[in-house]
Amino acid sequence: MRVQAKVGEDRKRYNRIAAIYEIAEAPMELFLSKKWRKYLFERINPCEGDRILEIGVGTGKNVPYYRDGHYIAVDISEKMIFKAKERVRNSTKDVQLIVSDAESLPFKDDVFDIVFTTFVFCSVENPIKGLKEAYRVLKPDGRAFFLEHMLPKNRLIQPIFHLLNPIARMMGPEINRKTDENIRKAGFSIVKEEHLLGTVFRLVEAEKV
Ligand SMILES: C[S@@+](CC[C@H](N)C(=O)[O-])C[C@H]1O[C@@H](n2cnc3c(N)ncnc32)[C@H](O)[C@@H]1O
Repeated sequence: MRVQAKVGEDRKRYNRIAAIYEIAEAPMELFLSKKWRKYLFERINPCEGDRILEIGVGTGKNVPYYRDGHYIAVDISEKMIFKAKERVRNSTKDVQLIVSDAESLPFKDDVFDIVFTTFVFCSVENPIKGLKEAYRVLKPDGRAFFLEHMLPKNRLIQPIFHLLNPIARMMGPEINRKTDENIRKAGFSIVKEEHLLGTVFRLVEAEKV
């Protein structure tokens, strides 16, 4: 009951900021995220026929980078999905958009070849529950990619992230999560972890154990 109420808060939070999300993120997108998204898709390198799930699609910023494959993209915020729909309409990619909670995905077990997220498990209220869902829907030989920001490893700067976290949370994300640990706690085995900017922004590739 308590968790459901909090998921409602996340939905409201992102519905509230959907209209200004891309403007607020523009500098970050221009200088950093853009090149990371491009790199992510070079790493994913999907094949034709792959079924690919993006969790927390937001306004669809990854859509221009999508390659071969059939994409299903979910988000808890219908206003973010509304923005993503505009992007999908203007693309030639095969994408189905669904309003759905990462913590309770409307898919059967073992159905996706690839599952990926960009900057999402900093927001999902119960990240381990959401990551367990990602695990559940991934095929046994599937691959998962998480481009996420996390609490840096350097203990000297960690207190700054804890201090600033309540302010960041008002906008959406938590900046002090140990998403690498959460990925493992959800059952995944980490195949590769790349540090994109210090140890804050990381690209984690994982597979089912
Ligand atoms: C920081 S935005 C990132 C959006 C997009 N992935 C990007 O790279 O621009 C986080 C997204 O996660 C979504 N989100 C938060 N909690 C969620 C949940 N429980 N289930 C699905 N999506 C969720 C938000 O609505 C928001 O669109």
